[in-house]
Amino acid sequence: METTLIILKPDALQRGLMGRIIGRFEDKGLQIVGCKMMRITPELAAVHYESHRGKPFYDGLVRFMTSSPVLVMAVRGVGAIAISRNMMGATFGSKADPGSIRGDFGVSNSFNLIHGSDSPEAAQRELKLFFTDGEVHTVDRAIEGWVYDLSGQEPE
Ligand code: RTP
Ligand code: MG
Repeated sequence: METTLIILKPDALQRGLMGRIIGRFEDKGLQIVGCKMMRITPELAAVHYESHRGKPFYDGLVRFMTSSPVLVMAVRGVGAIAISRNMMGATFGSKADPGSIRGDFGVSNSFNLIHGSDSPEAAQRELKLFFTDGEVHTVDRAIEGWVYDLSGQEPE
């Protein structure tokens, strides 16, 4: 089981797309185990996107991410990091495939609706930045045995 950090960015909230985007994760069978609305401070944005510091788009990215509230989610499932990145689509809305969140809901390259951790290391680091331990839950789902084949050692 993996848990990944998903952020519905300011444009997703402003455009009223939260429900439809969250619905895609629920429809897929991933579990939302943490969720809150917050305004990202410039300090938090700087730590979150520290690997992009110095790049031409960095200042605009921090301005965008701090411009309006976001929804942060902890999303869990087998392979949740890669599955979520596939669901998000390519970084630029203009390039993202139809069927993906960025491909279906946006055209902009900068305002691209959603963030998802890109590796297990990033997920662990980013979840700690946005959630305390108590805010990420263990949810015993009644339907788990129909979402996954639980007959073996690991959920399949
Ligand atoms: P994210 O981190 O937000 O999940 O997006 P990503 O992995 O697909 O893309 P990344 O390369 O990490 O870039 C972070 C965010 O910076 C903005 N960006 N703008 N105008 C540009 O050239 C450019 N490149 C990146 C996007 O908002 C991107 O999501
Ligand atoms: Mg990234």
